[in-house]
Formats: sequence, structure tokens, C-alpha cells
Amino acid sequence: MRINKYIAQAGVSSRRKAEELILSGKVKVNGNIVKELATEIGRGDIVLCDGVRLEYKQEHTYLMIHKPKGVICSNSDEKGRKTVLDLLPKKFDDKRLFAVGRLDYDTEGLLLLTDDGDMSNRLMHPRFEVPKTYVAKIEGTITLPEIKRLEDGIIIDGVKTKKCKINLLGVENKTQELYTAHPNAKAIDHISALDDNIKDKDLLSRLEVIIVEGRNRQVRKMFETFNRQVVFLKRTAIGEIKLGGLSRGTYRELNNTELNFLKKL
Ligand code: URA
Repeated sequence: MRINKYIAQAGVSSRRKAEELILSGKVKVNGNIVKELATEIGRGDIVLCDGVRLEYKQEHTYLMIHKPKGVICSNSDEKGRKTVLDLLPKKFDDKRLFAVGRLDYDTEGLLLLTDDGDMSNRLMHPRFEVPKTYVAKIEGTITLPEIKRLEDGIIIDGVKTKKCKINLLGVENKTQELYTAHPNAKAIDHISALDDNIKDKDLLSRLEVIIVEGRNRQVRKMFETFNRQVVFLKRTAIGEIKLGGLSRGTYRELNNTELNFLKKL
């Protein structure tokens, strides 16, 4: 890292003021006064400014990636399957990036990658109840009482799920004709346009599911409790961070608004 950036990161001054400090001979690196602005500082270097030792503040990396189905979130896999880190370019090889939480093998969508363990712990901590938004496609339809039970919490693996929100986005038949749901629709009971003769097994329901936990395969298990198979699952948001139009298998750095959301946690 450039010396002026290092001084600024340590909270001493702006980068420009740091240059003035360097040029006026107030900065020592490993015991020697340094006036060369292009000086690079590494992990082991000892930097003093006005006689005070500065702490090395690590710069973290924060990325979002659109995880495709068929890719795993762990950093390595004994079965040799592709991992999310395999989707990143070589320039990230020397960073110790890891996925914040997990998406299962068959689930796609928004995944955060970072080397900031503190931030990851805060984001995943149950106390903060950061909402995670998913779009799920299930076989058949689901009724209003069933949705209400899911929203209130059901027992999965012996533990009750926290309250969640579910909205019906639409219902489609096998020819992919879509019946879009009314904005406040919760369940099939709210779609009047459907032909009464159409069989439940010939339909797929598209739902938005917002949960505040990150339990293993939670969304799939929630619907399985009512014998509905989830045939497609995609995470579209984590708190205020949205996947938007990021293409499958690609990544981008988080912007300042997104970073501020993480810092507020
Ligand atoms: N719920 C699931 O079923 N799978 C995920 O990957 C995340 C939430």
C-alpha cells in the first residue's frame, strides 16, 4: 500500500495531508525518515508519524457474486465440485475470501464474499435478523392457511422457524403461461383468473419468501413440510443489498451504499 494511503487509513489525516507530513520529514519507516511519496508499505513495516507508531489497518474486500446452481459455497470440496471461488479471476487468488453464509448446491443468487470475518459474523448473527429475500418456485399451489402457518413459524428439525413473510408473485401452468398475482396476494385463493378445471399438479407457484434466519435448506424444508417441492430457488437480496441484474456466474465489488449498510450492522 502507498505510504500516504497507509497514513490516511490509520486515521491520521487525509491522503493529501499525509503527503505534506511525509515531505516535511515527519514520517519514519523502519527507523528511517522517508520523503519518497511512492514508498510502498507492507505488513511487516514499522511506520512512525511524529514519533507515534501507526497501526496497520487491513483493507478488506467485499464482493457480491451471482452463484449459479451446481456450484458449492465452501472454499474446497472433497468431491472436486466447482466452488464459488473458482468463478473469480486470478487477481483474488492471494486474498482469503470466503462466502458469508451458504446457498445450497441447487440454489442460485446473491452471495457475499469477503475476507472480513467481523463483518461476516455480524451479518450472520441471529441477533441482527438481517432479512434474506428469495424467489421460490414450488410444484402445485399453496393455500392461504398454509402460507399463514409458514409465516407464523413451523417446526423444522425440532426447532420453530422465526416469523417470515411470503407473497405470491404468480402462478404458471406447464406451458409457462403466467397468471400474475395481485400485489398483495398471499396464496392461490387470491388468483381469480385461473381456470377452475386446471389441475393443481399442472401448476407451479412463484413466491417471494423473506426469512431472517439462515438455517440449512430452510426455504426448501419449509415448503416440504406441506409436501410442496421447491423446483427453483434464488436469493435476490440480503438486507439492503440486492442482486439486481448481475448475470449468473459473475461478480462485482460492493458499492459505498452497500458497504455503509454492512457497517451500520
Ligand atoms: N433456503 C434453502 O432452502 N436453500 C438455501 O440455499 C437458502 C435458503
